[in-house]
Amino acid sequence: MLKKQVLSPGIKRFELDAAEIARKALPGQFVVLRVNEEGERIPLTVADTMPDKGILVIVFQEAGKSTKLLGSLNEGDSILDLIGPLGRHSHIEKFGTVVCIGGGVGTPEIFPVARALKQSDNKVISIIGFRSQDLILMADEMKSVSDELIVATDDGSNGNKGFVTDMLKKVIDRGEKIDHVFAVGPVIMMKMVSKTSEPYKIPTVVSLNPIMLDATGMCGVCRVDVGGESKLACVDGPEFDGHKVDFDGLMARLRTYLPEEKLSLEQYEAAKPKGGCCGGKGGCCA
Ligand SMILES: Cc1cc2nc3c(=O)[nH]c(=O)nc-3n(C[C@H](O)[C@H](O)[C@H](O)COP(=O)(O)OP(=O)(O)OC[C@H]3O[C@@H](n4cnc5c(N)ncnc54)[C@H](O)[C@@H]3O)c2cc1C
Ligand code: FES
Repeated sequence: MLKKQVLSPGIKRFELDAAEIARKALPGQFVVLRVNEEGERIPLTVADTMPDKGILVIVFQEAGKSTKLLGSLNEGDSILDLIGPLGRHSHIEKFGTVVCIGGGVGTPEIFPVARALKQSDNKVISIIGFRSQDLILMADEMKSVSDELIVATDDGSNGNKGFVTDMLKKVIDRGEKIDHVFAVGPVIMMKMVSKTSEPYKIPTVVSLNPIMLDATGMCGVCRVDVGGESKLACVDGPEFDGHKVDFDGLMARLRTYLPEEKLSLEQYEAAKPKGGCCGGKGGCCA
């Protein structure tokens, strides 16, 4: 790891020395990594690349044991294994006017997509939403690739009060012709975005995050129902037509291992040295 930053509470940005992936990765693709020999495979979206410097950027939320362990690494540390780029890249063309929506940690994931759409001469209206002001991420970066940036917070502590779907409805209601919507964020958010755009027949692409295991299309763990067909998010996606995804089925599958995930986190927290993972001496508890 070359650089570590804490973007907001529990959300970290790593710059990794991974030249081959940095050269090949395109917007919408992801990588899978393992921190150590016993580690779970963690799928994470390619948040950015610097191909000339051989740098791959990941941004992740410490959701449970594996992402907390990843977050405890420091500059100079190594990740045991990292594979990618995986998945199909976003379909980028000149659509006209596009709305790019990022919810929470979905914002760093929508950033390369918004940038590629801007570079392809689209008018980009970006909407990014967070629970509150202290959780706002990458607003400056999103502004730099957007013709208009709308920031929303659930509690109104910054920007507009409300959900990203309220902001999308406002943009639609002001009469702007929208040719495409791209959305990345919590499953419930992507479901509501798709429901908002559907009556207006605005093509809507969402990036799904089911539990993944091999990420090569062989285990079947990441299957999702799209338009009545079973699809594998790792090789057929992760992006799909939001108007066809069975979001309720996806949410039910994501809940499958909740008791095991909770137990695993409790055991990890209990095993940590007192004063934090570095005994309060290093930067790992940041
Ligand atoms: C294609 C893809 C891209 C992703 N990109 C990002 C990203 O850029 N940033 C980010 O913060 N998160 C991203 N995620 C989610 C991230 O992989 C999970 O948060 C992480 O695996 C959780 O592991 P954990 O052990 O810390 O938490 P756990 O306690 O195991 O789980 C916490 C939550 O993460 C889900 N989860 C657990 N294991 C997996 C797994 N192997 N695959 C997918 N979800 C899992 C669980 O259902 C649960 O909702 C992505 C997921 C996918 C599938
Ligand atoms: S993760 Fe195994 S088939 Fe997709």
